[in-house]
Amino acid sequence: MTKRKALMAGNWKMNMNAVEGCRLAADVAAQCNKGYDDREVLLAPPFTILSEVSHALEGKGILTASQNVCWEENGAFTGEIAPNMVKDAGGSAAIVGHSERRHIFGESNEMINKRVKGGLAGGLMIILCIGETLEEREADRTFTVLEEQVRKGLDGVDTGQMEKIVIAYEPVWAIGTGKTASKEQAQEVHAFLRGLLDRIYEKDVADTTRILYGGSVKPANVNELMAQPDIDGALVGGAALKADSFGSIINFQ
Ligand code: PGA
Repeated sequence: MTKRKALMAGNWKMNMNAVEGCRLAADVAAQCNKGYDDREVLLAPPFTILSEVSHALEGKGILTASQNVCWEENGAFTGEIAPNMVKDAGGSAAIVGHSERRHIFGESNEMINKRVKGGLAGGLMIILCIGETLEEREADRTFTVLEEQVRKGLDGVDTGQMEKIVIAYEPVWAIGTGKTASKEQAQEVHAFLRGLLDRIYEKDVADTTRILYGGSVKPANVNELMAQPDIDGALVGGAALKADSFGSIINFQ
């Protein structure tokens, strides 16, 4: 089996001004001093400070991403940001389909698919977020919902493009709630998702695609999550806003 490089990603959401963001980025960079070559670190600041934060991280080996991306290259799309703008601001990736985009702002699987394809066409790595609500889990619909989000989200994405796709499984009921999926619950879903990639694509894609877990990841639970065979990293919200907690997450054992 191919060894997948872990990806530890911090999603700052709608937090941080330029001064705070550059300070946090520098403090996070200072925590990346263990010389690990089995993991990558990525920060997703708000659009407004993507450029400053990317600049502050130059030469530090930390990737930056936008928190969303449009499928169009330019034009009359008020409030949106094009793949080239992300790259111009120093970003190399975009988070797409985050549960807050789906549930607060009503983004559909179809819209998310356009973002995925647009971002890929623009040369970005895409972190495609998926996850079931508590209602869906309790109604035993977790796998059905996730399969639909993956199939629709990746519709038209071919095998060759999959090397630029990362999947982030974030159960909606675990985001920002302090409730983490147990390591067994998370591993069960990650194994299902890897099997699904095998069914949609091929074994090699299933073996090499990174599947991150997100939802109340903290220094206290990161080690047991990362010890699961199919968990390849974390997408971290709240605990990524402090350098010491995110540092402990990056430096998981
Ligand atoms: P959380 O957020 O770590 O605060 O639960 C995770 C996310 O929304 O990506």
